[in-house]
Amino acid sequence: MKVLGIMGSPRIGGNSDILLDQALAGARDAGAEVEKIILCQQKISGCLNCEKCNETGICALKDGMPEIHEKILEADAVIHSVPVYFWAMTAQMKAYLDRWCVFFDAEWKWHKHYWPKMKGKKIGLITVCGDPNVHTADPIVHSFKTTVDFTRLSWLGAVMASAGAKGEISKNEAAKREAYELGKKGATP
Ligand SMILES: Cc1cc2nc3c(=O)[nH]c(=O)nc-3n(C[C@H](O)[C@H](O)[C@H](O)COP(=O)(O)O)c2cc1C
Repeated sequence: MKVLGIMGSPRIGGNSDILLDQALAGARDAGAEVEKIILCQQKISGCLNCEKCNETGICALKDGMPEIHEKILEADAVIHSVPVYFWAMTAQMKAYLDRWCVFFDAEWKWHKHYWPKMKGKKIGLITVCGDPNVHTADPIVHSFKTTVDFTRLSWLGAVMASAGAKGEISKNEAAKREAYELGKKGATP
């Protein structure tokens, strides 16, 4: 099993990163091979809606994303971790998610050559917000969960936590345990 972690906060070593590491530790302990991609260290432009990928399944933008597309295809589970920025996901995570366009044709159907690798792929999410009410992150959960349902992938679940200062989440044992379990679940066939 391969579990891919996608880190969407620009604050490396911050709360989203800590929880994603917990999830990847859970996956590793369950026997999976794990890899983490830190989006802010990659060059990922926004989707241009040029529609070229509708025909070819190949993105016209030559940046860091095509390599990430390959890693998504090869993973059994992809776990995303992202903080709330202005009641939404970070710019890094949004640019990444929009580039999922490459997988679909003009009718938002899977390109035939991608579907065998994407079928049954598990998609998980971790959110962190400064607000003590974790439901501040509901729009992000909605975005990922709806994408997963719409594209007939498998929803692994969401871990929603609250923390403000860098690393503050380390004190939240319950959130760390939940993230660990999410990773373990991702590594379980
Ligand atoms: C630009 C920016 C916007 C933010 N907007 C929100 C927000 O709308 N709601 C919220 O609850 N927290 C907001 N926060 C706080 C972060 O979600 C919080 O500090 C989180 O722990 C950051 O996670 P990280 O350490 O993984 O980067 C914002 C932080 C920044 C830097």
